[in-house]
Amino acid sequence: MKTIGITADHAGYEMKELLRPMLLEMGYNVRDFGTNSTASVDYPDFAHQLANALEMKQVKAGIALCGTGNGMAITLNKHQHVRAGLAWNVQVATLIRLHNDANICVLPARFIDENEAKEIVKAFLETEFEGGRHTCRVEKISINGELKVEN
Ligand code: RB5
Repeated sequence: MKTIGITADHAGYEMKELLRPMLLEMGYNVRDFGTNSTASVDYPDFAHQLANALEMKQVKAGIALCGTGNGMAITLNKHQHVRAGLAWNVQVATLIRLHNDANICVLPARFIDENEAKEIVKAFLETEFEGGRHTCRVEKISINGELKVEN
């Protein structure tokens, strides 16, 4: 059974609580990295926990939520093996799997409703990477570009 990690800051907390039972109903094990209330917290504290668990192969994929999704996405993508995609609708959620082989789906909790959140997560989890022409593009993501500094 696949284990999915989920995390949120205070802005995404209520939507995280809504999504966790849906993931269980879908047959996933769920590892919840918090936060556990609407009290204000710092999203990097939660993003790094999920990213570390993914890099240590403790979770197969992840769901992350904050107000715009950007704080989570920016932080998660600091990790070499994370490909976090910001998904604000089903089509984008599908494309971050098909084209980018995203392993974490980030939701902008303050800009989508509960039903949209559920459909986005379902699309993300039920879509496979397309491969083909996208394979070398995804491989190139993890190669550090040569830094050229002109004096
Ligand atoms: C919290 O107010 C908000 O800044 C945070 O959830 C997120 O949108 C940051 O990117």
